[in-house]
Amino acid sequence: MAPAQKKSKSAAIAALIAALIIVIVVLGYALTRWSTIEKTRKLKNPVPATPTALAEGKQIYQQHCQRCHGPKGDGHGEKAPSLSVAPGDFTDATKMRRQADGELYWQITYGRLPMPAFKDKVDENGRWELVDYIRTFAVTRSHVKPAAVSKNSAPSTK
Ligand code: HEC
Repeated sequence: MAPAQKKSKSAAIAALIAALIIVIVVLGYALTRWSTIEKTRKLKNPVPATPTALAEGKQIYQQHCQRCHGPKGDGHGEKAPSLSVAPGDFTDATKMRRQADGELYWQITYGRLPMPAFKDKVDENGRWELVDYIRTFAVTRSHVKPAAVSKNSAPSTK
């Protein structure tokens, strides 16, 4: 084999190995992320909807969420018209009942474009307080006191 040919062959092998490493890393990342998502979705809410938790949740909501989701949680925040996707409507009791606490927590944690992730902006406890708080938007409308939202407000199958 001519030296030039040999050189290009080893370059090709090196490129192949590099590509393989990238595939393994990406796949590994995707799999770990996926299992984290699945685990998060099934989490039970460790923060009961006490008046303190709701008050703190409200404060975080006003600071981070209200501009898109609106002061009433109906998705009509001041920024909403400029978004590519409409923010969810938390006053829709039927829709909210279908989502487990872990799912809401997951959406808040990882976001879903154009909604940003809040993993690094709001701590774990705060994110659960947000779950408790955003559930009150639908609850108030159906005239049930927020305190009636138990620590496990996941949808019942019965
Ligand atoms: C930049 C605007 C923006 C901000 C800020 C924002 N969201 Fe959202 N949010 C959205 C949009 C848009 C969606 C819908 C995403 C989709 O359907 O793909 C959404 C969806 C959600 C959902 C899923 C609900 C559903 O209807 O299925 C939850 C829960 C949620 N947001 C909670 C929050 C909380 C809590 C905060 C504050 C910590 C927050 N969001 C901040 C824009 C925003």
